[in-house]
Amino acid sequence: MADVEQPVVQEQTLDRDCTTLSRHVLQQLQSYSANAQDLSALMNRIGLAAKLIARRLSRAGLMEGVLGFTGGVNVQGESVKKMDIYANEVFISVFKQSGLVCRLASEEMDKPYYIPENCPIGRYSLLYDPIDGSSNVDINLNVGSIFSIRQQEGEDLDGEARDLLQNGRKQLAAGYVLYGPSTMLVYSIGTGVHAFSLDPSLGEFILSQENIQVPSRGPIYSVNEGNFWQWDDSIRNYIRYVHRHEGYTARYGGALVGDIHRIFLQGGVFLYPGTVKKPEGKLRLLYESAPLAFLMEQAGGRASTGTQDILDVVPEKIHTRTPLIIGSKDDVALVESFIKEAAWESSETAHARS
Ligand code: AHG
Ligand code: MN
Ligand code: MN
Repeated sequence: MADVEQPVVQEQTLDRDCTTLSRHVLQQLQSYSANAQDLSALMNRIGLAAKLIARRLSRAGLMEGVLGFTGGVNVQGESVKKMDIYANEVFISVFKQSGLVCRLASEEMDKPYYIPENCPIGRYSLLYDPIDGSSNVDINLNVGSIFSIRQQEGEDLDGEARDLLQNGRKQLAAGYVLYGPSTMLVYSIGTGVHAFSLDPSLGEFILSQENIQVPSRGPIYSVNEGNFWQWDDSIRNYIRYVHRHEGYTARYGGALVGDIHRIFLQGGVFLYPGTVKKPEGKLRLLYESAPLAFLMEQAGGRASTGTQDILDVVPEKIHTRTPLIIGSKDDVALVESFIKEAAWESSETAHARS
């Protein structure tokens, strides 16, 4: 009997070991059409960028010129790290040879980067945050990359990339890479959320979790409470509620990708609300909030500004920021209920005064 069962187990192991990223995309689309092949090739290229970045991060403390600041400031007024620039350029060079992508827009570049030789054939745009959580780089803690793929619409003759100023439902694919104890790539092309782990001995991303579903509520609340003094009363009231009820636990790592990865697996909510200094919050719609919202909805969760679904927000410019409340649907709804209540109270007060 044992002799009969053994080959079945081996077959399953072999099959699991062989589901690579590019193969998985084709399986999900159940097609070898040109579009399916393009998406598969795009994901494969993102995987290559991730491997190059992971390789540099894994030896960062041993190499010259990897850690620390460049001395420059990006378009959002943030000090730029050497790894931000390296990772930004990795994505450009990987897609330069792809023939797939005509434009790349990143939080580290004022304007989109055009690859003219690809433009006649490459109808996709890549939007990305090359290193997310870069304050963690110099202390060897987890960081990430976030990406989103959109189809280019129109000719973009003036180089203004106006077609990128559309809502997040226009995304064809989105995902992130988590550079942690192992490197993981999590993606969605609108058919669920799937996680791959980089097997360093193979140099390949191998499927490790298919169809991730976020619990409908969870114990985690993830927010920088150092900003309490800068928040609206609505957010302060929500945090007071959490402090006074059993069942919550705080986790905040300073890198959105890691904090949200935990929520995908354990449930709960991540918040980056508006502050006095940054009324729209810190996170950028096109490179951070919208791709993560796409994934979260695909996993059965929600992402909101507090008053609107993130995927419905139309940016005014490519670097637009939005407040972000993302995670389990019941937890996001609870935060929204505090925001609604505060809005109702302030309209009642205004009404009483008039
Ligand atoms: P980035 O490194 O791309 O600028 O993003 C950092 C973001 C995000 O990863 C994190 O959640 C948040 O900034 C942390 O900000 P605070 O230090 O203000 O909490
Ligand atoms: Mn970021
Ligand atoms: Mn970044």
